Amino acid sequence: MAPLRTLRFLAAGAVWALAISASPVLAEDAPTGEQIFALCTQCHGSVGQGNVAVAAPPISGMDEWYVAKQLRKYQTGARGKHAADHEGLKMRPMVRFLKTDAWVDNVAAHVAGLPRHTPEATLIGGDSERGKGLYGPCAACHGQAGEGVQATNGAPLVGLSDWYLYSSIEKFKAGIRGSDPLDTDGAVMRGMAMILVDDQAMKDVIAHIMTFSN
Ligand code: HEC
Ligand code: HEC
Repeated sequence: MAPLRTLRFLAAGAVWALAISASPVLAEDAPTGEQIFALCTQCHGSVGQGNVAVAAPPISGMDEWYVAKQLRKYQTGARGKHAADHEGLKMRPMVRFLKTDAWVDNVAAHVAGLPRHTPEATLIGGDSERGKGLYGPCAACHGQAGEGVQATNGAPLVGLSDWYLYSSIEKFKAGIRGSDPLDTDGAVMRGMAMILVDDQAMKDVIAHIMTFSN
């Protein structure tokens, strides 16, 4: 059992050491995306499949533009700064180790290149047929099959776990996400989350989004 784990551990240690070294890191010195990704696996899983126990969503196969954009939002504090954003507060300190734009770009490209995860349903009580109707307006920004629409900054939704979709929509509704003045596209999504008037509507639309992955 040990060798692979040990190797991974050592590889992660080497990147951490690089990340926290005091010397300024030039763009051309940035580690590869794969090396940087070793920092992410402790929460997001060895292949980016996510881990509900630490509330880290699946990120594998997620579009590069979206991953890079979110990492930069965590860097500026546009996301993950709200006192009630417990998961965001866990994610935000991680981006401090991404020293230059090249680190962000390299790890985003690596994440995007990983095979997309197929999430298992964990929420019960959602009606995907009803959800299909509710999803109508969402498609303009997220695509008919949840593939994401870069022109609107609309996140890819396919591949995300239902528990993460649920908590994200809840956060938008409560202003825990999307209310920072720097987060202009989060603010757009906040308005949209309000049309999901209750718990049932959230579960229904999520049940429909889950059909994109399966
Ligand atoms: C200490 C645990 C932890 C580590 C390490 C970590 N993350 Fe996260 N990450 C999280 C959590 C928790 C969330 C969910 C935040 C939320 O619910 O809003 C998250 C969210 C994200 C998101 C947003 C996903 C979305 O759908 O909007 C991206 C992208 C991401 N992480 C990438 C990374 C990358 C790349 C690394 C490595 C450089 C990394 N994370 C390291 C815990 C972690
Ligand atoms: C006018 C455009 C627009 C519409 C319509 C819209 N959204 Fe969004 N949505 C966005 C944007 C932009 C983001 C990315 C916010 C960010 O960068 O944090 C987003 C993010 C999300 C996220 C978080 C994804 C993640 O990985 O963290 C979920 C879930 C979501 N939207 C669900 C929905 C649902 C369900 C609907 C329909 C009820 C909907 N959206 C309608 C623009 C829109």
